[in-house]
Amino acid sequence: MLEDFPEKLARANRVEQMAWVAKQHPLPEQPARSLFDWPGDPRWYIDQRHRDWLQGVLMSGRFRRVLEIGCFHGYSTVAFLEALKAGAVDEVHLCDTTITEQLERVLTHYNLPGVVVHHCRSVELLARESFDFVFVDGDHGAETCKEEARLLIAAQARVVMAHDTSVAPLFPLCDGPQHLKQAFQAAGYGCLEDAVLREGEHTERGMFFAAAVREDYEIGLEQFRFIAP
Ligand SMILES: C[S@@+](CC[C@H](N)C(=O)[O-])C[C@H]1O[C@@H](n2cnc3c(N)ncnc32)[C@H](O)[C@@H]1O
Repeated sequence: MLEDFPEKLARANRVEQMAWVAKQHPLPEQPARSLFDWPGDPRWYIDQRHRDWLQGVLMSGRFRRVLEIGCFHGYSTVAFLEALKAGAVDEVHLCDTTITEQLERVLTHYNLPGVVVHHCRSVELLARESFDFVFVDGDHGAETCKEEARLLIAAQARVVMAHDTSVAPLFPLCDGPQHLKQAFQAAGYGCLEDAVLREGEHTERGMFFAAAVREDYEIGLEQFRFIAP
């Protein structure tokens, strides 16, 4: 509860604040999530607030061929499938090194044409195909994320979103997304990030948005205002 948020912590650095949030939310806490009984540690999923941002951007209808890197149990994948179901996108490409049973259950539930599953490493796929929109939440190591960013920028990716772009202070081995964020900032993309510490959520880990052109940036910003008013 925010009223319990100690005054001293409000002035503390991000690492101390994140440690406090983790302590306040010991496992096995499972936030209510609609549709499916999502298995495992909820901290492996993006927050619902960030999934709403992702879905809002996809629903804009500006992106036809879209890719998710790192589906896990399909929680974030639902944003893509809802956009496909609504006709806002034409093709949903899903890339993961492990295809979980839960992801298969999610795909069976939606049962939509236009879904392509790529059972491979992200960098292999990005080296041979390009997409209008890419959400990156796969391998969080620096080597992979730097290569993902290099390939995406070389392919002139229009919009890229990425998760965990501010998680590195607490999990130094997950510094890849931070490098990816820096690569897009350096390449001149219009960038946004929600990395706010919120009671009961894990949004401080960071959800990043980068657009190559103003019209796409404005879609990201419009949806950002809904999820981070
Ligand atoms: C943090 S989970 C993704 C969570 C998911 N986006 C969600 O919010 O529900 C990371 C996923 O990335 C996958 N992964 C790991 N390395 C990968 C790589 N090199 N290429 C593609 N996927 C990878 C893992 O198998 C795992 O399913």
